[in-house]
This record gives sequence, structure tokens and C-alpha cells, in this order.
Amino acid sequence: MPLRVVRTIDEVRTSLAERRGSGTIGLVPTMGALHAGHARLIDHARAECPTVVVSIFVNPLQFDRADDLAHYPRPLDADLALCERLGVDVVFAPAPDAIYPEPPDVTVHVGATAQYLCGAFRPGHFNGVATVVLKLFDIIQPDVAYFGEKDAQQLAIVRRMVADLNVPVRIAPVPTVRETDGLALSSRNQHLNEAERALAPGLFRALTVARDAVASGVADAEVVKRRAAGTLPSDERLRLEYLELVDPRTFQPVQRVEGPVVAAAALWVGKTRLIDNVLCTPPA
Ligand code: PAJ
Repeated sequence: MPLRVVRTIDEVRTSLAERRGSGTIGLVPTMGALHAGHARLIDHARAECPTVVVSIFVNPLQFDRADDLAHYPRPLDADLALCERLGVDVVFAPAPDAIYPEPPDVTVHVGATAQYLCGAFRPGHFNGVATVVLKLFDIIQPDVAYFGEKDAQQLAIVRRMVADLNVPVRIAPVPTVRETDGLALSSRNQHLNEAERALAPGLFRALTVARDAVASGVADAEVVKRRAAGTLPSDERLRLEYLELVDPRTFQPVQRVEGPVVAAAALWVGKTRLIDNVLCTPPA
């Protein structure tokens, strides 16, 4: 069946009503500018669900900086071509007015899971994410929704939201897709110039140092963090926003590593903010 592109809530509901009886509906929520990371999510959905829906919506509610929203890439034709190639059934690409006909008065509030890391540095970001994800779930009513481990705090928050609010959607995690030098694929990588691109893999390298330290038995989180951050070259274009070890479910920082932890970091490379994370497991 050819790809169907729909713009309104009525259209997406009508086009899915016909398919709802014939097996599970998988949703891959995105903001477009699709790359091989998004493609991996779509592949997982395609392998598991008879109907695959991709949403493409740059959600203004989750942007804490106006210039970031204004500069977010929107290559819709290329995105649709990729979706077609990957065998997506329906792309839902609404205009902002379709999702927010007026500024919402009732939104989702995320508590402690959004307190640290990106939640601390991007005020309101995760409330915006949770609100739009819940709206997409209500509009599309998927059986399964696919989220990348690249955005580990977002994944933890979405999991917590469906648990706390009894949302009948299964959340399926997908491992991070990386370039050969370790840099996690991101729509924001295209903002990097050549020199910045060469510096960017330092983020993943630092996190692998944290992973190795934990694996070798270092249990003091401060020591792990110092060792990891210490591997970043001192370069005026690099600014480490945070590097933390957190509990994988609650995203609360840990002082001592007594089980698996997520090492997560945000690094400014010039004017581009990159995030990444790795799971660290102490020796048995
Ligand atoms: P976006 O940044 O477009 O990402 C869409 C999905 O792709 C997210 O689940 C993200 O974790 C996943 N993803 C991005 N890069 C990846 C990579 N290198 N490997 C694996 N998965 C990757 O995340 C959002 O959009 C928005 O916040 C959204 C959930 C759509 C709500 O607006």
C-alpha cells in the first residue's frame, strides 16, 4: 500500500479506523529531519506491526529557546521519501494549529523524573514533551510506540507517564544509532561545522570512560564523573553542561554505584547542544 500523508486529526483518525481491526498499530513520534536513528525506530515498528504510523511535528511547547525552534530543520519532502522507502503506512504531519488551536490550559506536569539533567537545564521542556506525546497517543491510539534510548530521560518520562496515567500504549525502547566514530545520530549534528564535527565524538568517548570505570569497580560517582569529564579536550568551543550518573528508572543522581546506572551528558559544541548517554553496569 502506498504511503498516506495526512495533516488533520480527522484524517488520521479516519485512515486508521479502517486498519484498527487488522492487527497492532505502531507509532514512531518524531520532529522530522529524519536520519538513520529514526529509521531504526521505523524498522522496529515495521517488523512488529501491520500498521506503522510516523508523526512529524516540531512541537513548539517543548522548545525552551526561540532560536532553536526557528532553526529546527524541516525537510518534509526528504522525510516523506524516507518514510515511503521504509514502508511506512501513514505519516501524520499536522500544522501547529491542528495540535494547538489555542494555547493549552491543561498540560502534563512531570515531577522528579524531570528534575535533573536536561530537565534542569531546559525549563518546561519535558512538560512539553509529555503533553504532546499524550496528545499523539490520544489522537492516534497506537498499541505500541517506539522511542530511542538516545533520549534516555525522555524515554524514562514517557514510561512513567503511561504507568502513572494508565495510558494503554506499550513503550518499546530502541538502542542508540551511532556514526562509526561513536557520535550519536541527531538532527542537530547538521549544525556542526567541520572542526566542531571533529570534536563531537568526545562526548561519547567520555561516557565510555565512565562505563569502563564503573565496569572496573569504581563505585564513587564523583570519581567516575571526574575521570569521564577529564577526557574532554580543553577547547574553547566545548562546554560541558552536565555529566551525571543517575538511576535508570527514576533519573535521580546516585552518589555510589550499587547497580546499573545511566551516565548521561550534555555538551555544547560551539552553538550546538549535543546529548548522549550509556548504561553502566558494575561488576557482579
Ligand atoms: P526527535 O528528536 O525527532 O526523535 C524522535 C525519536 O527518535 C526519539 O524517540 C529519539 O530518541 C529517537 N532518536 C533520535 N536519534 C536517535 C539515535 N541516534 N538512535 C536511536 N534513536 C534516536 O524526541 C523527539 O523527537 C520529540 O521529543 C518527540 C518524542 C517526537 C515529542 O515531540
